[in-house]
Amino acid sequence: MIANSRKNPNPRESLILRTGPAGGEEEADPFLGLGSRGGRPKPKPPGAMRRQTRILLFLERISVAFDGFRAINDLTLYLKQGELRCVIGPNGAGKTTVMDIITGRTRPDSGSAWFTRDLNLLAADEVAIAQAGIGRKFQKPSVFENLTVFQNLELALAGPKSVWRTFRARLTGQEREFIGETLERIALTEERGRPAGFLSHGQKQWLEIGILLMQRPKLLLLDEPVAGMTPGEIERTIDLLGDLEGRHSIMVVEHDMEFIRAIARETVTVLHQGSVLAEGSMDHIQNHPAVIEAYLGEPLC
Ligand SMILES: Nc1ncnc2c1ncn2[C@@H]1O[C@H](COP(=O)(O)OP(=O)(O)OP(=O)(O)O)[C@@H](O)[C@H]1O
Ligand SMILES: [Mg+2]
Repeated sequence: MIANSRKNPNPRESLILRTGPAGGEEEADPFLGLGSRGGRPKPKPPGAMRRQTRILLFLERISVAFDGFRAINDLTLYLKQGELRCVIGPNGAGKTTVMDIITGRTRPDSGSAWFTRDLNLLAADEVAIAQAGIGRKFQKPSVFENLTVFQNLELALAGPKSVWRTFRARLTGQEREFIGETLERIALTEERGRPAGFLSHGQKQWLEIGILLMQRPKLLLLDEPVAGMTPGEIERTIDLLGDLEGRHSIMVVEHDMEFIRAIARETVTVLHQGSVLAEGSMDHIQNHPAVIEAYLGEPLC
């Protein structure tokens, strides 16, 4: 039985946490971030992770079943530092569940999962994982509708302080500048004084990405970022992702193949029935017979 489920998610709970550094590179203590575990033997990061310092996210042989149904089945996926990875797959393939596992919301039954060599994702809780630098955007945007766009960002920057304390404290010049840059990046400078509730659906999605950026995440997990967007908003989101690429490692789950084609530069991973069905360039996976079959003849156009 799985202890965690996606029911009643409270995305902002983890979003408003201040992100701390996940540690150094070569000489980092591999057990940093696991916390005190009362003298129990601590798991070591897998050999591949120790040798391959460029691997940021390491998921190996992960399986999870919900009431006997295998939602994730022996899944292995590695993400390099700075990579933008697109993950596609039919409904129910397990895409969101993978994000649930990375963020500690769902505990797998078996396998190993590491974020850098420092953090064993299967031993850390959701708070520690967010603090280590993994920011997640859920399928449905969740912003504080009564607060202005600027205040939403200000609150996210402040971390786990109370709303009252945040708005009484003065922002430093640097903080104000960072919010200003982020507003530009998410194309909401002109909306900065408007309550978030007045934004379009697409603008709310960008604001939520902006909220994540306030935490300076190492890895951004974006679940269906363009769902429900107008074509113009999708275009703007393509530019936004282009801008974020290189500054952050990113995993994007999306059904919109035009969007995927526009942003995918390296590897696209296709999930099907909880496993990786194919991985490679967009051209490679588009012409992959098993992928075509998994989509039941739907053209991957
Ligand atoms: N907490 C849960 N309890 C029971 N079943 C679950 C739970 N979470 C996911 N599942 C099941 O696991 C499977 C994978 O679900 P998941 O949401 O990861 O798919 P997905 O690829 O994100 O699909 P979509 O494209 O529709 O968002 C589905 O069959 C889903 O019903
Ligand atoms: Mg999903």
